[in-house]
Amino acid sequence: MENTPRHVAIVMDGNGRWANSRGLPRAAGHKAGIDALRGTVEHSICRGIKTLTVYVFSSENWQRPHAEVALLLELFITALDDEIDELHKNNVRLSFIGDISVFPEELQLSTQTAARTTSANNGLNLVIAINYGGRTEIVSACKRLFSALSGENKGSEAVSEEALRRQLDLPDYPDLFIRTGGEVRISNFLLWQLAYTEMYFTDVYWPDFNHAEYDKALQSYDGRQRRFGRTSEQLGQHETAL
Ligand code: IPE
Ligand code: IPE
Ligand code: MG
Repeated sequence: MENTPRHVAIVMDGNGRWANSRGLPRAAGHKAGIDALRGTVEHSICRGIKTLTVYVFSSENWQRPHAEVALLLELFITALDDEIDELHKNNVRLSFIGDISVFPEELQLSTQTAARTTSANNGLNLVIAINYGGRTEIVSACKRLFSALSGENKGSEAVSEEALRRQLDLPDYPDLFIRTGGEVRISNFLLWQLAYTEMYFTDVYWPDFNHAEYDKALQSYDGRQRRFGRTSEQLGQHETAL
């Protein structure tokens, strides 16, 4: 492959349907989803990807039955505690986006410890979106920018795309977006950041997303021409007459 994305963002969807299709409870799907995430992290390292951002729990997922929400949070804490040593050994740097402050103290501590322990690592950046919503992120960024500008006695003329970007939870743009599970939507993930990201949707349920499926997404990315508004001719490829 010639072009490997620097930053991949994934909506890991389809755990529930994967379990249903096997006559298993949804919980089994979420557990299998953790194994798929471990494999995806390993393969991202293998393929030289610099940043992997994964959607673990959306701000809308609170609307699920209480028992499922509780299970998801419990699985998250357990997985983080189980995996942190291995991630650290593999030079992975962990960070978190989304509003963590509403979670039980145990979860907040686990995330803070994981981020602190791995902060000096310079391998894969693993960004975990938990209680994350793209619209809320933009509103929070506006609030932070507003405070920063009033502090510096600056007015609205200092508001720019670049100034707002710097206030985002994730001030970086993914090159490739992957969504498993068959739905063709963003579901409030990284609304600002995805403006020029290449999109890849697959029907494969998240627990079945293995190295081969990941490579299919990377191959699809490799074959794309990113024009950012320009023409192919300007990029010096696929010359066509007017
Ligand atoms: C993704 O799988 C996991 C989370 C949203 C936390 P789902 O639980 O949404 O699985 P489906 O979409 O119901 O199959
Ligand atoms: C998106 O999946 C959120 C995560 C994968 C964490 P959902 O299953 O919640 O999305 P919708 O509700 O189908 O849009
Ligand atoms: Mg879903």
